[in-house]
Amino acid sequence: MNLKNIRIAIDGPASSGKSTVAKIIAKDFEIIYLDTGAMYRAATYVALSNGLDEADFAQTINILKENPISFGASSDGQLVYVGEVDVTEAIRQPDVTNAVSGMAAIPEIREYLVDVQRVIASHGGIVMDGRDIGTVVLPDAELKIFLVASVEERAERRFKENLQKGIETELTTLQFEITERDRKDSTRKISPLKQAADAILLDTTGIGIAEVVERIETYAKEL
Ligand code: DC
Repeated sequence: MNLKNIRIAIDGPASSGKSTVAKIIAKDFEIIYLDTGAMYRAATYVALSNGLDEADFAQTINILKENPISFGASSDGQLVYVGEVDVTEAIRQPDVTNAVSGMAAIPEIREYLVDVQRVIASHGGIVMDGRDIGTVVLPDAELKIFLVASVEERAERRFKENLQKGIETELTTLQFEITERDRKDSTRKISPLKQAADAILLDTTGIGIAEVVERIETYAKEL
């Protein structure tokens, strides 16, 4: 198939390497990259910064409709905006990270964000990463990957990422938080984190980014 039109769904638990590999694949294939986790984080940031809790989801959605989530490019990665406000760093802070699973379990929030995600995907080739892309957002994606890695390795990766961003964390705390987020994401009623029946399972424990990218790109080229 023409790789410029391919839709690739990459799902998996927190810090399994989804966004890192998705960004590289998007660049290589010259297709859009959409980080759907950033959208749930942006919604959480909006709620927290406006003093809203999970029951106030209608207000959160209204604010998002008036100040849509959008993405921009920078030399060191992707920028995330809510309206005109750059929330790239704010959405990675521990307060948002610890509240996002609760926000992502609200059906109305998911419905709103999934609609936005599908509109973005309707424009052509895309690699989207998240938890429900292969099962709910793009059930007919041409290629579906389910990325996993051990909790220890994922905590280690998040630890290093945080260090680079100047965020100080403890490895054991990260392991606990990742396990807890996996549990919440996998057991929620609506669109839980789950491997789609037709997704390819890739365990990235002990495997470098380049190798993971190469495997996924090979699957795509073989379609
Ligand atoms: O990928 P991430 O860690 O940035 O995602 C943040 C949270 O958003 C995560 O706890 C699960 C949720 N999420 C989701 O429910 N569905 C998605 N498609 C993407 C993320």
